[in-house]
Amino acid sequence: MQTVKVNLGENSYEIFIGEKIFGGVEKFISQSDFTKKILVVTDTKVLKNCAEDFTKNLSGDFEIFTIEAGETSKNLHEAEKIYTKAIELGLDRKSLIIALGGGVVGDLAGFVAATYLRGVNFIQVPTTLLAQVDSSVGGKTAVNHALGKNLIGAFYQPKAVFIDLETLKTLPEREIKSGLGEVVKYGIISDEKFFSYLENNVEKILNRDAEIFSEIIKRSCEIKADVVSRDEKESNLRRILNFGHTIAHVIEEETNYKKFRHGEAVAVGMLGAAYISEELGKISSAEVKRLKNLLERLNLETSCGNLDVDKMYKAAFRDKKTLGGKINWVLMKNFGGVEISSDVPENVVKNSLKKILG
Ligand code: GLY
Repeated sequence: MQTVKVNLGENSYEIFIGEKIFGGVEKFISQSDFTKKILVVTDTKVLKNCAEDFTKNLSGDFEIFTIEAGETSKNLHEAEKIYTKAIELGLDRKSLIIALGGGVVGDLAGFVAATYLRGVNFIQVPTTLLAQVDSSVGGKTAVNHALGKNLIGAFYQPKAVFIDLETLKTLPEREIKSGLGEVVKYGIISDEKFFSYLENNVEKILNRDAEIFSEIIKRSCEIKADVVSRDEKESNLRRILNFGHTIAHVIEEETNYKKFRHGEAVAVGMLGAAYISEELGKISSAEVKRLKNLLERLNLETSCGNLDVDKMYKAAFRDKKTLGGKINWVLMKNFGGVEISSDVPENVVKNSLKKILG
């Protein structure tokens, strides 16, 4: 088992990564001062695939709350149902909520854990690659509002994250691809060596080699943990984690969240951001090609279809990360380094967007 620490003073925690490590959750609980009542939140897909495997390791007094799998469950209405369950079960301030599932389950259960009784203990057990390398780490919790995604939420750190590599064995191809989009991002924003490691191991990645996956999940978590430890609430540095995300959110919105998984849209968004960086003379066309090449080899998308560039440009300003009417673009300086710029001319953005159409 490998361990990555998220250093946040008294809110520090560890991410445990390994095969068949569900038993570690019970051990962690038994060494804590949590009261014995546990609420496990999961979804209909995970319930079928691995909930039994998970709960057979729990000896305490636990109850499972199952949401319908999918983004539409991430709302206040569903949160309220979980609050009701927590009240009925008598969960107190020292009780534990466990999120067993992907990003939707983690965000929703985390939001409930952050707000029920002003905060109860919370453990993340992410079961998708995307959740393992991104959403389960760093304490962002949220639900969607009818007018936008993740508009209601809180920063609330888990007590621990348990990543069981076994869960990846049953994960559909597109879910793996989606996670890989975020994995590539870490190489670009902070570690060229990691980017090269991905380039050198494409075959093994596509064959779901367990050792390689253990390494790429660990390195992704290390990079995210480092950024979050230095800027928990995204006042500045944490913004670099949004590399590729402004355009990704536009693509997701303009395709009604149907055509692309999040990480797939991030792949196209990263390429768009690389084109902007090239237009501004920050990186060379060879560097853009290097990124595009890796995305293609990993079977990730490099274009978003035929969307309307003017509409896309307008939509970019609706992103919730826009501040004072300005977009904080995360741009490449090289492989392993990015910078934030809120000053990118309209024609540069539009020219770059044109290059990811098709
Ligand atoms: N997914 C971006 C962040 O956690 O800040």
